Amino acid sequence: MSRCFSSNGLTLHAPRGHHSFKRCLSSHFLNQIQVNSIPYALPNPPLNLSEPSKFSRQRLYPITASTTTPAVETPKSSFRSKNPKDINVLVVGSTGYIGKFVVKELIDRGFNVIATAREKSGIRGRNSKEETLIQLKGANVCFSDVTQLDNLEKSLENLGFPIDVVVSCLASRTGGVKDSWKIDYEATKNSLVAGRNRGASHFVLLSAICVQKPLLEFQRAKLKFEAELMREAEEDDGFTYSIVRPTAFFKSLGGQVELVRDGKPYVMFGDGKLCACKPISEQDLASFIADCVLSKDKINQVLPIGGPGKALTPLEQGEILFRLSGREPKFLKVPIQIMDFAIGVLDFLVKIFPSMEDAAEFGKIGRYYAAESMLILDPETGEYSAEKTPSYGKDTLEEFFERVLREGMAGQELGEQTIF
Ligand SMILES: NC(=O)c1ccc[n+]([C@@H]2O[C@H](COP(=O)([O-])OP(=O)(O)OC[C@H]3O[C@@H](n4cnc5c(N)ncnc54)[C@H](OP(=O)(O)O)[C@@H]3O)[C@@H](O)[C@H]2O)c1
Repeated sequence: MSRCFSSNGLTLHAPRGHHSFKRCLSSHFLNQIQVNSIPYALPNPPLNLSEPSKFSRQRLYPITASTTTPAVETPKSSFRSKNPKDINVLVVGSTGYIGKFVVKELIDRGFNVIATAREKSGIRGRNSKEETLIQLKGANVCFSDVTQLDNLEKSLENLGFPIDVVVSCLASRTGGVKDSWKIDYEATKNSLVAGRNRGASHFVLLSAICVQKPLLEFQRAKLKFEAELMREAEEDDGFTYSIVRPTAFFKSLGGQVELVRDGKPYVMFGDGKLCACKPISEQDLASFIADCVLSKDKINQVLPIGGPGKALTPLEQGEILFRLSGREPKFLKVPIQIMDFAIGVLDFLVKIFPSMEDAAEFGKIGRYYAAESMLILDPETGEYSAEKTPSYGKDTLEEFFERVLREGMAGQELGEQTIF
C-alpha cells in the first residue's frame, strides 16, 4: 500500500508491484560507461493521446477533492502568467540522480511541486518512504505507480491538485530491455496522459543527446515518446513541450576516479580520443530543466545541452585525473575491437538463450559510449561538433573529480546496471 503526502493533507492508498533488480556484467575498466535505459519491445500497445478513451480531459474539471474545490483552468489559459507558487509542477522520476535536483530547484524557485515516488525509491530501492519524504522535502510527495496509468490518475485525482506542467526525469533503473520500454516510453507516456487529464499544458522531458544517432533500443524508445510529445503539441496549440537532451552526467565519468587515486591505470578505448563530451552536473542540468518550465524561448524546442568549458575526450579526462591526484600518468589502452568481439559473442548467445537479450544490449551500449561522442551531430557531415554543442552552468568536471578524490563517489553511484 502506498500513500500521497500532500500539503493539503490528503492521502492516497495505492498498491505497487514489487520491483525486481538486475545486475549485469561489471569490471572496473568499463565503470566509466553507464547507461540509464535500454528498451526493446513494446510490452503493451502504445497509448494514443489523441484518443479520448476513458481519460477524457473534460472529465477532470473541476477536480473533486472537496465540493468547494474551484474549477481548474483550461490548459489554454497560460500558466506562465501566474506566480510560481500558483503553478503546479508534477515531477515524475523525482527520486533519480537528476530528478532529486530538479525537485529541489523547482521548490527553490517557488513552484508548487508534486513529486511521484515509489515506496522504496532510489538505487535498488534502498530508500524508505520516510527517507524519500526527507529527500523530497518541500514537495507534495505522492507515492504512486507511474507504470500503471489508472493508479497514477487516481493518485493525482486524490491529491486534488490540477497540474500545469509535467517534468519527467524517469528512466529505467534496471536497464533491462523490457523495463526500459516500460519506463522510458510507457510510464513517461502515462505521466503525459495523466498530466494532460489534470490540465497540464506544458511537458518538460529529460531525454539524452545520444538519441540523435539512434543505434540502441532505449534511444528508439525515447525517440518514440519525443515524437508523440511533438505530435501532441502540433494537434493542440494550447500544449507545449521542451525536450532536454543533455550530454554526459558527472556520475557516468567518475567511475575511475577512486581507482586512479589508488594507483590503478586509467582505462580507455583506442587512443582515448574516439569520443568526447561536455559533461554537465546534476545541479546545472536541474537549473536548465527548471528554466524550461517558464522560458518562452524554450517552448517546443529540442534542447541539446552540455556543461561549461571545452569538450573532453577520455584521454583528457584521464590527464586531469592524474594531475589532480598527483599520480604518475598510467593509461591502459583497450582496442575497441574487443567490444566488437564481445558483442558478436553475446549476439550469438542470445539466439540460443533469449534471456540474455539484456546482456547483448548492454554490450552494444558499452560499444556505443566507447566510440560515440555526446555532442551535437552534424547530419550533413556525420561529424560531432563541440562548437555547436551549447554549454550551460558553472560546475566543471575538474571540480567534480577534486570532490570525488576528497570525498569519494557517495551520491554519484551508477544505477542498478553497471554496464560491464
Ligand atoms: N548518465 C548519463 O550520462 C546521461 C546522459 C544524458 C542523458 N541521460 C538520461 O537522463 C535520464 C535520467 O537519468 P538519471 O540518472 O537521473 O536516472 P536515475 O537516477 O536512474 O532515476 C530514474 C528515475 O526513474 C524512476 N523509475 C525507474 N523505474 C521506475 C519504475 N518501475 N516505477 C517508478 N519509477 C521508476 C526512479 O525511481 P526509483 O528511485 O523509485 O527507482 C528514478 O526516480 C535518462 O533518461 C538518461 O537516459 C543520462
